[in-house]
Amino acid sequence: QPVKLNPLMQMHQDAADFYQQILLTTKIGERGLNYARQRELDDELLKHFKIGYAPDRRDLLLTYLKEQGYTDEQLAESGLFVQTQDGRLFDRFRDRLMFPMSDETGHPVAFSGRRISDNPDEPKYINSPETSIFNKSDLLFHFSEAKKHARKEGHLVLFEGHMDVISAYKSGIKTGIASMGTSLTQQQVYMIRRITRQVVINYDGDDPGIHAAERAVGLFKQAGSFDLGIVILPDKLDPDEYVKQYGAESYQAAITGAISTTDFFLLRLKKKYNLNNEREQVAYLSEAVQEIATLQNPVEQDLYVGRLAKETGVSLDALKMNLSRARRRQR
Ligand code: UTP
Ligand code: MN
Ligand code: MN
Ligand code: MN
Ligand code: MN
Repeated sequence: QPVKLNPLMQMHQDAADFYQQILLTTKIGERGLNYARQRELDDELLKHFKIGYAPDRRDLLLTYLKEQGYTDEQLAESGLFVQTQDGRLFDRFRDRLMFPMSDETGHPVAFSGRRISDNPDEPKYINSPETSIFNKSDLLFHFSEAKKHARKEGHLVLFEGHMDVISAYKSGIKTGIASMGTSLTQQQVYMIRRITRQVVINYDGDDPGIHAAERAVGLFKQAGSFDLGIVILPDKLDPDEYVKQYGAESYQAAITGAISTTDFFLLRLKKKYNLNNEREQVAYLSEAVQEIATLQNPVEQDLYVGRLAKETGVSLDALKMNLSRARRRQR
């Protein structure tokens, strides 16, 4: 017999079931199902992620939940409705594909709704506001599921959005989690650290994604003792788009080919400088060596310095001299 949930959590469970019923079994849900098919979400995925559809109606969920016996006060504090000046409630999510967001025990506590229309005046995603059961800074999408798989796989894979988690899942990578647009928080980093120290960051390949990845690396380094891998997809693609374009096998290879944070740093650094100009090359080398000097493992330091020497034609001796100077300065 399942444990009795608190009313707001039970309400979210009921809402998720309701939205999924609409998506999978009703005429009014066909619009949602067409969109889901367009996004290549099959029934198995829809069920695994408990995806649903909120039709373009102002009080469909409201009426249903009232029938289930929830009080006006419970409904008002659930985040599932917007309240007018005079206190009336209306469904918050309309004409959206609905993704339940679950807490660490796997119970839905909030929703994210994807716009189906192409009306640019509507936000692409609407998320539940924070409530007594939903604190967005300590929720990670798919965390309760991913952590089970992480025991076997060893690592977790961090994404920007739920569609990326879902496409990765479809490709056989079941350890995906997402911070849901709101940039990663230190609390989320500590949640991850309780499960594993091995994390692959696979944000979108566009500029915002790359910057967010740099910021995430900083947060993980601050927390300490993580083993990080970074995946940068080509052509500014996000993981969902990449899977659609290149398929599951190619995507798995991309994850396996995750680069180190040092390589990620050096790659980014190289883009900052014009390496045909000697002064800029000196500045590049000096910044690169400083980064390498922060590495704890001398073998790793040797490896990267060796590569720098080869790449730039500067002698290994000169670079090593710079490296030991940089290390002394950092102590
Ligand atoms: P993206 O713009 O990369 O969206 O934002 P996406 O995940 O690729 O979504 P699709 O493929 O277009 O459907 C990354 C994440 O930022 C949050 C969402 O959680 C999204 O998954 N976001 C984005 C919002 O909360 N609101 C928005 O309007 C846009
Ligand atoms: Mn599973
Ligand atoms: Mn993005
Ligand atoms: Mn994206
Ligand atoms: Mn996308």
